[in-house]
Amino acid sequence: MIAVANATAGLSLCLLAARAAGGGNRADGLCVLPSWTHEATAIAVVRAGLTPWFHDVDEASWRLDPDRVAQDIRAEPRVVHVMVTAPFGAQVPFAPWAELSERTGIGVTIDAASCFDGLRGGPVDAVVSLHATKILGIGEGGVVVARDAARASLIRRLARFGLSEDRVIDHVGMNAKLSEYAAAVGLAALDEWPARRAGFAWRRERYAARLDGRNGIRVWRPEGLSSSLMVRLPAPTAVETAEALRRLGIETRCWWQAGCHRQPALEGFPRRPLPVTEALAESVLGLPYHDDLDASAIDRVAAALLALTAD
Ligand SMILES: Cc1ncc(COP(=O)(O)O)c(C=O)c1O
Repeated sequence: MIAVANATAGLSLCLLAARAAGGGNRADGLCVLPSWTHEATAIAVVRAGLTPWFHDVDEASWRLDPDRVAQDIRAEPRVVHVMVTAPFGAQVPFAPWAELSERTGIGVTIDAASCFDGLRGGPVDAVVSLHATKILGIGEGGVVVARDAARASLIRRLARFGLSEDRVIDHVGMNAKLSEYAAAVGLAALDEWPARRAGFAWRRERYAARLDGRNGIRVWRPEGLSSSLMVRLPAPTAVETAEALRRLGIETRCWWQAGCHRQPALEGFPRRPLPVTEALAESVLGLPYHDDLDASAIDRVAAALLALTAD
């Protein structure tokens, strides 16, 4: 594991490390990634010198599907890497991606920014965010869980400009070290982690008991907890619902907005058709979910949402 300044830098480091290790050296290299992700995923790709190629996600898992990606990249020799986002605490099964990487020689990195809870190391690199908005927040920070010791040592070096012990740079890195101050905050946050986790767990269960399966609402409840409580609405009304809740004094978030491909600075990058991304963007909403939220506040939010989605 390598502590880094933030997850975005950690993702770029994984891409740089894959390139330094001999994969993905094409000047016109493409990196497959979902559009249904935080913009940071795409930014990390651009900053590592690759071109994002946006792909659609699976409707049920909200993730890239390894079989579909394998099909899509067969006829595209410029693909050098795949970045798979683990959505809102849902872990990505590593095995199919490791198998794809093994078979094709294409690198894979998991953007596990929201997956502090439950992430296990695996045969591909994964990156967790410790940003203040995350379930274990330390201000700014991240952790790279490298696929093996050799990759960890390369990433550690790249996070320190690329300098070796004898101060030689073979591959250009960046300054992505975690500050000692942030590390100390992290150690203190770990002491409180069991209580914090328990708080997120009961709040999610309370939301689920009141909302899941009612009026066609689905509560996103993967095995891991994240700091977002996402619901899928029965219709493409996320923006209108957010506005109606706002008028009731309830703040919500469309965390991944309309998908990365809709951002002006990213819309020029190549993409496959994105119907599932578009549908999720229009129907997924993040409800209030934080340490200060008591049971009656959750009940009020749930009642308001049920009233808005009633036939
Ligand atoms: C999926 C995803 N990737 C990357 C990031 C960026 O993390 P950081 O702020 O630590 O750079 C985030 C942050 O919210 C995220 O949700």
